[in-house]
Amino acid sequence: MKPYFQTNTITLYHGDCRDLLPGLTSESVDVLLTDPPYGMAYEAKGRSGAAIRADGSRQGMRVFRQALTAAGPALKADLHAFVYCHWQSWPDFFDATSSHLRVKGALMWWKARGGMGDCAASFAPDYEVILHATGSKRRRLAGKRHGAVLSGYPPVPNAKRTHPTEKPVNLLAYLLERACPDGGLVLDPFAGSGATLVAAQQLGLRAVGVELEERYCEAAAHRLEAGTALARAA
Ligand SMILES: C[S@@+](CC[C@H](N)C(=O)[O-])C[C@H]1O[C@@H](n2cnc3c(N)ncnc32)[C@H](O)[C@@H]1O
Repeated sequence: MKPYFQTNTITLYHGDCRDLLPGLTSESVDVLLTDPPYGMAYEAKGRSGAAIRADGSRQGMRVFRQALTAAGPALKADLHAFVYCHWQSWPDFFDATSSHLRVKGALMWWKARGGMGDCAASFAPDYEVILHATGSKRRRLAGKRHGAVLSGYPPVPNAKRTHPTEKPVNLLAYLLERACPDGGLVLDPFAGSGATLVAAQQLGLRAVGVELEERYCEAAAHRLEAGTALARAA
């Protein structure tokens, strides 16, 4: 399939990852870093609008399971994987991930600010869970051992988002710096606004992303073009 956007290191496809992932080179991916449809009916309250495709409770989990199966042959044995999930659906994500990979633990992204819900009678949902898993072969993370609570990565402000669940690039870059070897290949099958690809681009890594909705591919391509222009100007 023809890429929607491509540089010498970054490739973005517009399509269904379940169709595209089987075409990736076998045993080529060093890091799977992704934020799949949450497996719950996500309601976007912010400026960026609409619900996310495949985000109905059963449908989201089915898509994630099928994506892992489709990606399987492309994943290296010493892969590290990071999978964002919502607190309501993380047990399902744990089950799906652990049927393909070894789940090593969960990271907690502390967002340092509350969210939606019952403001008077519930605790603020000021965190997100990120499952960390590996392939069958052990590969060290870079640097000293770090804690599992990730703070100092503020969420993208509503007014700046191009996607309702857009993740901060510096948080994704932190994970890639720790888990991806120099020049390694990163895969994000649910690329959204391309935040994972932008993080890989900034670190000089290779990356492949897939996104179902064209408007998000367009947003991702703009961000990646801007990154390419900056690199040329430097
Ligand atoms: C939670 S969002 C990812 C947001 C992204 N992390 C960002 O920072 O912008 C999940 C994305 O997966 C896309 N998606 C859903 N089903 C898909 C599929 N089968 N193949 C590829 N993308 C899919 C949705 O359109 C949505 O943009």
